[in-house]
Amino acid sequence: SELNKNYKLKALVTAGPTNEYIDPVRFITNKSSGKQGYALAKAFAKKGFQTTLISGPTNLEVGNNINLIKVETADEMFKAAQNNLPTDVAIFSAAVADFKVKEISNSKIKKQEKLNLELEKNIDILNYVSKHNSLRPKLVIGFAAETNNIEENAKKKLDEKNCDWIIANDVSNKAIGFDSSFNEVSIYYRDKNMDDERLTIKSKSEISDEIVDRVIKRLN
Ligand code: PMT
Repeated sequence: SELNKNYKLKALVTAGPTNEYIDPVRFITNKSSGKQGYALAKAFAKKGFQTTLISGPTNLEVGNNINLIKVETADEMFKAAQNNLPTDVAIFSAAVADFKVKEISNSKIKKQEKLNLELEKNIDILNYVSKHNSLRPKLVIGFAAETNNIEENAKKKLDEKNCDWIIANDVSNKAIGFDSSFNEVSIYYRDKNMDDERLTIKSKSEISDEIVDRVIKRLN
């Protein structure tokens, strides 16, 4: 059966936001709910993949047969990814904070008129993995959350981050993207023989099934 054919295949998915602490009670985060990534993990597990889901903080229930690794910061997400790669396929749907606080205060910062925070760049997990000799999965898929010039920006990320595919979504549209149960995506392929594809608005679960179908086709 198809399940038996896939059961040896391993998938890794990143999902959700990351929290970057300022002090013990405050952090910088972003708008991801984790819905898209959890739906992808569910879709992989349903098709028999050994599935690892590395998730930032979310309120979501995880599906059956998924190895859930909960993390909070980008650094923790990065370590978890290193510990669980390579796989056959990895999809990076997490909205990782691009910056972390350079010096995290050990105690709660007192109220004051002004507070300057120095931020430094977080590691780009997708970029690191896709350019790593031994950790890189056969198939590396990134997401691109864009608000404008979607195709151009997504193709730039495809190239610069050495992805095989990039899945772009428009996060300026409230009906889709962050926190919605729906999405609409464009898939761009590195392989010039493959035409770009558009999956029009449907549930994140249906979008995930269609992505996983394409992954299976590509891996078999
Ligand atoms: O979680 P939901 O509410 O369901 O919303 C889903 C989503 C909109 C968050 C999701 O579909 C999505 O687009 N995820 C990627 C969000 C993002 O941060 O995109 P980006 O364009 O900044 O990053 C590009 C790619 O690099 C992504 O695959 C991202 O996971 C990866 N990245 C980025 C920064 C970083 N430090 N490490 C990374 O791995």
